[in-house]
Amino acid sequence: MPHDSAGHLIPGTISPTRAVPAHIQRPEYVGKKAPAGYSGNNIYTPEQIELIRESGRIAAQAVEAVAAAIVPGVTTEELDAIGHEFLISHDAYPSTLGYRGYPKSLCSSINEVICHGIPDDTVLNNGDLINIDITAFKNGMHGDLNATFIVGEASEEATLLVERTREALARGIKTVAPGRQVNVVGRAIESYAKRFGYGVVRDFTGHGVGEAFHSGLIIPHYDSAPEYDTVMEVGMVFTIEPMLTLGTHEWDMWADDWTITTKDKSLTAQFEHTLVVTERGAEILTLP
Ligand code: MF3
Ligand code: CO
Ligand code: CO
Repeated sequence: MPHDSAGHLIPGTISPTRAVPAHIQRPEYVGKKAPAGYSGNNIYTPEQIELIRESGRIAAQAVEAVAAAIVPGVTTEELDAIGHEFLISHDAYPSTLGYRGYPKSLCSSINEVICHGIPDDTVLNNGDLINIDITAFKNGMHGDLNATFIVGEASEEATLLVERTREALARGIKTVAPGRQVNVVGRAIESYAKRFGYGVVRDFTGHGVGEAFHSGLIIPHYDSAPEYDTVMEVGMVFTIEPMLTLGTHEWDMWADDWTITTKDKSLTAQFEHTLVVTERGAEILTLP
């Protein structure tokens, strides 16, 4: 059921909306078509950064809880339930739930799905790659991360893609420093990925995050200079979240208006952290 005759993923059935206890603060966009335009900047005080770190820690621990349940035979909606329960039991709101109408508490993106896969009754198989992307909202702040996991054991090609995508994120983070333009991040990621002939997804990017889920600041994962010349400053908070593929960087969207796949159905992997610019470089805010 979750694959067509060519072995490509197809949409499954999405279960009913999960409830969030009334005492948990909702982001302003929940129940609306779109978020209010964000008028703040991307620079935070040390006190605010500690709040983003708290949201980021809860999100990272939720990813760990979900990852512990990734085995052949589990469905992505079962993984969504684990992430949802973890977040609400830590008094955090699952930022994706009700964001522009998104129906679930995490994104689960399998194999050729680049990002924004919706949890449903799709069953994980040995050898699949699955990305889990969780954002937690607490104390008025969002913390956003994702990671790609191997279900059971995968091919060498797939395993290398995962490890090199993790390394691409690490290299992007290492370029962060006050006074540099944000386009240094993607330059490092793209030059590393190109060594292996990987596709580097361009149309989905890192972003400012904190008071807003997506603040309007864009962090490309390819070499965009001289564009995207925003200069990094101490206290600036944003995500880096490269998506690499075994084939093209081009993509298609499913009729659900969310699920993004590689156009050639090649495998793809992604890793994401939220980080803050410091005097010395960057500090990751989404550690467990
Ligand atoms: N967490 C994703 C990101 O990294 C955004 C997911 S939005 C959703 O930016 F609506 F698809 F959930
Ligand atoms: Co993000
Ligand atoms: Co994310």
